[in-house]
Amino acid sequence: MRVINPDHRLIAHKLTYLRDERTDSPTFRRLAEELMTLLAYEATREVRVEPFEIRTPVAPTTGIKLSNPKPLVVPILRAGLGMLEGMVRLLPSAEVGFLGMQRDEETLEAVTYANRLPDDLSGRQVYLLDPMLATGGSMADAVRYLAERGADDITCVCLLAAPEGISALEDSVAALDIPVTLVTGSIDERLNEVGYIVPGLGDAGDRLYGVVQ
Ligand code: PRP
Ligand code: URA
Repeated sequence: MRVINPDHRLIAHKLTYLRDERTDSPTFRRLAEELMTLLAYEATREVRVEPFEIRTPVAPTTGIKLSNPKPLVVPILRAGLGMLEGMVRLLPSAEVGFLGMQRDEETLEAVTYANRLPDDLSGRQVYLLDPMLATGGSMADAVRYLAERGADDITCVCLLAAPEGISALEDSVAALDIPVTLVTGSIDERLNEVGYIVPGLGDAGDRLYGVVQ
């Protein structure tokens, strides 16, 4: 698995405000979107394209356009929704599918509760969005599921990752015969005893959308 952690001061600056416990939900949502757009620039570096003939006012030339089938963007609900706008702003012709997953806070195992995706993902390049890679369980399950449906190139994008989650995802995708890339805004120090990223930013879903019981 390729891991990309872009070294960019704007990313670090925006992440600092995102982490700050004083940041309110509207500001948190705006920052998550902006960070996603910055990370999308890196994540889409190898988006599939094909040559395309055009004429400028001066001369004919060959450019490129996105290949068909178009890339599929899949936010993992709930917190991944906070990254969707930032991604499709850069990739407006992408299709969007949804996966709903919730981590059981006792066992730290992910449970899938919703799924709205094309049945056949053969030949699709997929961008999987979730702000937090903690134990890596949710992302690993999502990658496996998309690969089973035929996705042949998966890029996971998160805002923060714990080293433990990166190792777990790496181990899990090693068995797959497709390229998997992880783009993360930060590699934090560690997980704490209840599976939260340290220093992290707390519960991403709650900070985006408020606490649900
Ligand atoms: C958070 C986060 C990831 C998951 C990460 O979601 O958005 O999906 O936890 O943890 P993991 O790497 O240990 O699996 P959560 O389950 O809290 O659901 P939510 O997005 O609905 O708040
Ligand atoms: N999920 C979150 O929202 N935050 C963490 O730190 C870990 C999992």
